[in-house]
Amino acid sequence: MVLYTNSMTKMLITGGAGFIGGNFVHYTRKHYPNYQLTVIDKLTYAGNTRTLEPVMDKIEFVQGDICDRELIDKLVSETDIVVHFAAESHNDNSLRNPWPFVETNIIGTYTILEAVRKYNKRLHHISTDEVFGDLELDDPNRFTETTSYNPSSPYSSTKAGSDHLVRAWVRSFGIQATISNCSNNYGPYQHIEKFIPRQITNILSDIKPKLYGTGEQVRDWIHVDDHNSAVHLILEKGVIGDTYIIGADNDHVNNKQVIEMICELMGKGKDFYEHVNDRPGHDMRYAMNSSKLRNELGWQPQYTDNDGMKNGLLATIDWYTNNRDWWQAEKMAVEKKYAEQGQ
Ligand code: NAD
Ligand code: DAU
Repeated sequence: MVLYTNSMTKMLITGGAGFIGGNFVHYTRKHYPNYQLTVIDKLTYAGNTRTLEPVMDKIEFVQGDICDRELIDKLVSETDIVVHFAAESHNDNSLRNPWPFVETNIIGTYTILEAVRKYNKRLHHISTDEVFGDLELDDPNRFTETTSYNPSSPYSSTKAGSDHLVRAWVRSFGIQATISNCSNNYGPYQHIEKFIPRQITNILSDIKPKLYGTGEQVRDWIHVDDHNSAVHLILEKGVIGDTYIIGADNDHVNNKQVIEMICELMGKGKDFYEHVNDRPGHDMRYAMNSSKLRNELGWQPQYTDNDGMKNGLLATIDWYTNNRDWWQAEKMAVEKKYAEQGQ
């Protein structure tokens, strides 16, 4: 087993043309320039090779499906570490058509686990806080590594299933894996179907931002670079078989306050948005207790508290403003799909 080193470690990144995986590729190129990176991505509607354009000549890019056993077998045999981001990731889509979620999130993860087992490679599995279900709005508790699983949507239930597979492969077959469950990410290269980039690109397109229902739901927002610094720390120092919660303590703002913040930061009145249909089964509140990661591994997020979130949002607004080429062609189709559901 090759340990996490600063030399010529080979790393296979699944879903590296997506939002968090793409940012992880950039983060790794910057902080671990000696690593040899291979990205495998199916390039679904959510994958975008333009995200990797600045580093394409420094990585190997393979377009392929994580459910393809032969391909995964080959790629895993050639690497030292697998960081598994690839997934169907959007709750709203999982309510319309759950099958791709079952296929990629469960069968895809199974396929990776079998290859990792065969070649005895180090795996880090990326997961979500949504596996725990939700908290009541007035519940002061936060999710921890021992909170029971209680997922609400087809998306979160398939992510929960994938986490259980990883744990079972650790216990039954002794594979060298860790898991992290992170809260809602924001930052550059996020698909414009998601809450924060949808509202920013709405304003940039002269469309009113759209708030589901009353907007009292709470998400524990984290900047994608903070997520990715935590993943590297877990790869470096995490205990094999352990799970780590990742969160930046931003569970004090609800969706309504976030949309108001975006409107104000973009020079609009704070009420420059409209209410649209709520999401069926909408989770109320997520909140993360990341003390294990902070106390045992020494992790510290950069974008925390009100100022941190404001700075992170400002940088994200700048990015979407300056990178219209990355999102503009898709904007009308995304909004049309939402409009069909009154959203
Ligand atoms: P994303 O939808 O932006 O990217 C997913 C990527 O996976 C895309 O590039 C897509 O083409 C690729 N992909 C999908 N199916 C594939 C398949 N069968 N084979 C190969 N590639 C495939 O998602 P994201 O927001 O970057 O999320 C990445 C991971 O992080 C997911 O596992 C998600 O569950 C998890 N996560 C996301 C968040 C968040 O806030 N976005 C928070 C916590 C955890
Ligand atoms: O919590 C982690 C999860 O965060 C990840 O596992 C998922 O992959 C990721 O998509 C995200 O899930 P959410 O469903 O919380 O994110 P989304 O951006 O879709 O919505 C965030 C909140 O904003 C949610 O309460 C719904 C609301 N919303 C969303 C959209 C798209 C709106 O009010 N208006 C919108 O237009």
